[in-house]
Amino acid sequence: PGAQPLAGKHALVTAGPTHEPIDPVRYIANRSSGKQGYAIAAALAVLGARVTLVSGPVGLPDPRGVTVVRVESAREMLAACEAALPADIAVMAAAVADWRVAREATQKLKKTPGAAAPTLEMALNPDILATLSHHASRPGLVVGFAAETEAVVEHATAKRLRKGCDWIVANDVSGDVMGGDRNTIHLVTAAGVEDWPELPKAAVAERLAARIAGAVAPPPPG
Ligand code: C5P
Repeated sequence: PGAQPLAGKHALVTAGPTHEPIDPVRYIANRSSGKQGYAIAAALAVLGARVTLVSGPVGLPDPRGVTVVRVESAREMLAACEAALPADIAVMAAAVADWRVAREATQKLKKTPGAAAPTLEMALNPDILATLSHHASRPGLVVGFAAETEAVVEHATAKRLRKGCDWIVANDVSGDVMGGDRNTIHLVTAAGVEDWPELPKAAVAERLAARIAGAVAPPPPG
């Protein structure tokens, strides 16, 4: 094993989509694979952090040395994150559904011959990143993601301020990033913007974990 600069630190990571139930057999979701968040959880564990990964439904194995809490909906994800506090580091890589169905049906919705299709009323989901950023037990370093298809850095810079997080990992998703293995990111911090080259998701994770270690556990002077 190499150096463990994050030994003694607790990192909370979210990953994957959320599933928002319509009825007992149906849900609304999105195309997140969870790959980037899982890779970040693994990379933080390699650097010695104790890692809690709160994961939506994905088809990925638990990363080595990481405690995985599996959830389905955004509200379950928020509850699991709050239960995992305190943490030194939070990396919110999940693609949380912005809306849920306002009233989940307790029985399967029936297709009645001749009847109109149902109309689903939606409700806003909680913003987990913003909630943790303003939490009484706020992690020392809060990192959010921003998937953008245009004006990537401008939107990410505004999002950093709006959400109250410390860093935004801005993701250019105009290509085939969703479900793919490579990623092009810009790291937006209070100090400015770093443009990273296109990298495999595992390499993005390692570089981000090293950057996090430099921020929360700076090497002793001398
Ligand atoms: O607002 P937007 O969804 O673009 O912000 C993306 C960032 O916010 C990601 O870090 C995502 O994990 C987080 N987020 C969240 N809870 C939500 C929506 C987004 O934690 N309900």
